[in-house]
Amino acid sequence: MAALITPLTLNPFTMSMSNKHGPGQVIVVMVPFPAQGHLNQLLHLSRLISAYDIPVHYVSTTIHNRQAKLRVHGWDPLSISNIHFHDFQTPSFPSPPPNPNSPLGHLLPSFELASSHLRKPVASLLQQLSSAAKRRLVIIHDSLMSSVVQDLVLVPNAEAYTFHSVSAFTVFLHLWENLGRPFAVQSDILKDLPSLDGCFTSDFANFISSQHDCMKFNSGKIYNTCKLIETPYLDLLAKEQISKNKKQWPLGPFNPVSVSQNKTPNPRHQCLKWLDKQATSSVIFVSFGTTSSLSDQQIQELALGLEKGVQNFIWVLRDADKGDVFGGEVRRAILPKGYEERMKGKGMIVRDWAPQLEILAHPSTAGFMSHCGWNSCMESITMGVPILAWPMHSDQPRNTVLITKLLRIGLVVKNWSLRDELVVAETVGDVIKKLMTSEEGGEIRRRAAKLGGDVRMSVAGGGVSRLELDSFIIHISR
Ligand SMILES: *[C@@H]1O[C@H](CO)[C@@H](O)[C@H](O)[C@H]1NC(C)=O
Repeated sequence: MAALITPLTLNPFTMSMSNKHGPGQVIVVMVPFPAQGHLNQLLHLSRLISAYDIPVHYVSTTIHNRQAKLRVHGWDPLSISNIHFHDFQTPSFPSPPPNPNSPLGHLLPSFELASSHLRKPVASLLQQLSSAAKRRLVIIHDSLMSSVVQDLVLVPNAEAYTFHSVSAFTVFLHLWENLGRPFAVQSDILKDLPSLDGCFTSDFANFISSQHDCMKFNSGKIYNTCKLIETPYLDLLAKEQISKNKKQWPLGPFNPVSVSQNKTPNPRHQCLKWLDKQATSSVIFVSFGTTSSLSDQQIQELALGLEKGVQNFIWVLRDADKGDVFGGEVRRAILPKGYEERMKGKGMIVRDWAPQLEILAHPSTAGFMSHCGWNSCMESITMGVPILAWPMHSDQPRNTVLITKLLRIGLVVKNWSLRDELVVAETVGDVIKKLMTSEEGGEIRRRAAKLGGDVRMSVAGGGVSRLELDSFIIHISR
């Protein structure tokens, strides 16, 4: 479990190869997709790249830049003079409350607005930065923002890299299936593969394919993963039929691998103080990300399940984000009568923004009941915390397979084949008990701790993750 206190430091090797031949040689522009898990990953990557003395320009709508800065954990983006935020004002857009039966549907207006309104200002920013970048202007954009950066073809010294915000495993399967399964793969990869039914609404699927049409302009792909986690799938992605001979860079983990437990500038969140009082590896952290909402009935079952569960817990009980997270009312979930009173000492309910990375890094945290969004998976893996997988949509059902069947660092709470059924209280209690008291659970916890330790080591000088990042920097500075 990582609770080390080390700020990001530059090693001499890094310094010597940084921004070759003086300032302004290479400039990086980050174009994130305006949903929390995506904004956060590219903000973390901005920190890693800026440490090589390369200026990074982070570009989004005013609202989403504000959201990304406010919510990032583990470091302070305003403390790094090398990261420049460009806030582009957009017309207002519908920001309805989420509908548990149509994941992401309520966010589509904000996605569409960002993708249509950012193209022009981004194009002129690229023109402007192009002359300042003596050697090269490097654009790193979310795969879902490909249309926004398409004018880079008019910028002579620009080069683009597409960031896929999901696991190499899911990207591989997607491409391989779309190409009609051009070669055989090992059967264990396909064995438990869940159906894609219910993963994407048709509107969102259309949005994705409209972006993919513009992806041809890239010079390579970036993943927030690393060889220690996904070598078999990175190797498959590298096969010529899939990669089309473009380079790929597993630059993860993007998130800091160690976070200060007592140095944060703001007062520490009360849940961290509560964790301080709990026994080592005793608490289950429950949180389903920013794009899912549970039904009232499901909230009741989960509440009772956690109450029955053998472990203490922190439960982040929030509704899915709206397109504009700063505007309007948010539904306040109803818990069983007297629940919070009854749970005093055993469980803590958090309704505001929770410091997820710090919770995962805390020695008291034993497991993470998660929707298996990739940002959450990477944070949990890095901190050595096993996952209790409860996928909701998109890539999450497949990440569940990666986590529970292939990496074997978690257990399934909700099987995707039963996605329309409630997860009953008993199941919640049973899976927690299995993780914490069974022999299989013990092995899963040991494997997760080992993988986390290895991943944290890999970002230090000479480690595989660090070498990958070094080689990417050398490549863009060539
Ligand atoms: C889900 O259930 C099916 C059918 O029982 C099983 O074959 C599959 O392995 C399960 N999936 C996971 C991820 O456990």
